[in-house]
Amino acid sequence: MPVITCIDDLKRIYQRRVPRMFYDYAETGSWSEQTFRENTSDFNQIYLRQRVAVDMSGRSTASRMIGQDVAMPVALAPVGMAGMQHADGEIKAARAAEKFGVPFTLSTMSICSIEDVAEHTTKPFWMQVYTLKDDDFMQRLFDRAKAANCSAAVITVDLQVMGQRHKDLKNGLSAPPKLTVKSISNMMTKVRWGLGMLGTKRRFFGNIVGHASGVTDPSSLSSWTAEAFDEALDWGRIKQFRKMWDGPLIIKGIMDPRDAREALNVGADAIIVSNHGGRQLDGALSSIRALPAIIDAVGDKIEVHLDSGIRSGQDVLKALAMGAKGSYIGRAYVYGLGALGEAGVTTALEIIHKELDLSMAFCGRRDVCDLDRDILMIPQGFDGGWQS
Ligand code: GLV
Repeated sequence: MPVITCIDDLKRIYQRRVPRMFYDYAETGSWSEQTFRENTSDFNQIYLRQRVAVDMSGRSTASRMIGQDVAMPVALAPVGMAGMQHADGEIKAARAAEKFGVPFTLSTMSICSIEDVAEHTTKPFWMQVYTLKDDDFMQRLFDRAKAANCSAAVITVDLQVMGQRHKDLKNGLSAPPKLTVKSISNMMTKVRWGLGMLGTKRRFFGNIVGHASGVTDPSSLSSWTAEAFDEALDWGRIKQFRKMWDGPLIIKGIMDPRDAREALNVGADAIIVSNHGGRQLDGALSSIRALPAIIDAVGDKIEVHLDSGIRSGQDVLKALAMGAKGSYIGRAYVYGLGALGEAGVTTALEIIHKELDLSMAFCGRRDVCDLDRDILMIPQGFDGGWQS
């Protein structure tokens, strides 16, 4: 086993160990993947300001997200089909998160169900929900999350229709994978993954199969979204969801200050500046570029978080210094999960934590709750200067 020192090391092992179909599902953006790429490359345009001879002892990354204590303000983002990246993937990731002291967000499109994850963990996790037409399914999803003691709901508002990801169409993505000559010959080279999958019963969308009526192909994410998702979604409908769930509410998928104000009006406790990891509207701004305008518009009234593009603790530091109160990693933990299961997720969190802590020290800061834009060198026009 090579020495693992950064997220890219985990990614290399992940790529070797997980079937191509699921690697491609994670490692893709929509259409040309411009937004997917810029989500990470735009972080590199921001420089950090080094300070020296400042007392750097006694540093702390502990903070709070929506009033809940976190070891660092980095939650695990909802990721569909994590249980296809590694057997029982959602349970393993949730366990790593709870041991580390950061929130785990379970996707509605998970393989392990809400109840299953609750049964195999000890601390409350967050539940992500999509905006579906079926009221009964929505109410039951919120009720199931409540019964499972989930401590926040995360409503994804940027998936009324699904972005086109070329690779998923070409691979015929499904859970469990459809058996074709191409998929079988690829899976035969992934022995560890295959043994894991043979050893678990969790191979279907656990929150959907047996819960959603009228779903004709429960193995296909794209056909389910086409059938069940609400193209007519508006803020009035989101207000109804607010009434269905009386716990802390996070609205995910905000890229415009006007939408941030709407989220505030429906009574959200936090918003996530997110372009869905570049998987929805290709050609949208990277989330780190969209962040400053949203912070300036609503940052004093609501907690603003960020996802999309974070692959290092330095990226986390930049988002926090820009004004975000929390951040999320998706792919960065999936690489660890696919590579090494629960231990890989722990390693991903340790890497991000160390990078965050050391970079904070180099910038002359000791407390993650006490960061500001002074530690950043942001190029002119980074977040604006647009003609319209
Ligand atoms: C689902 O939300 C996806 O991005 O695949």
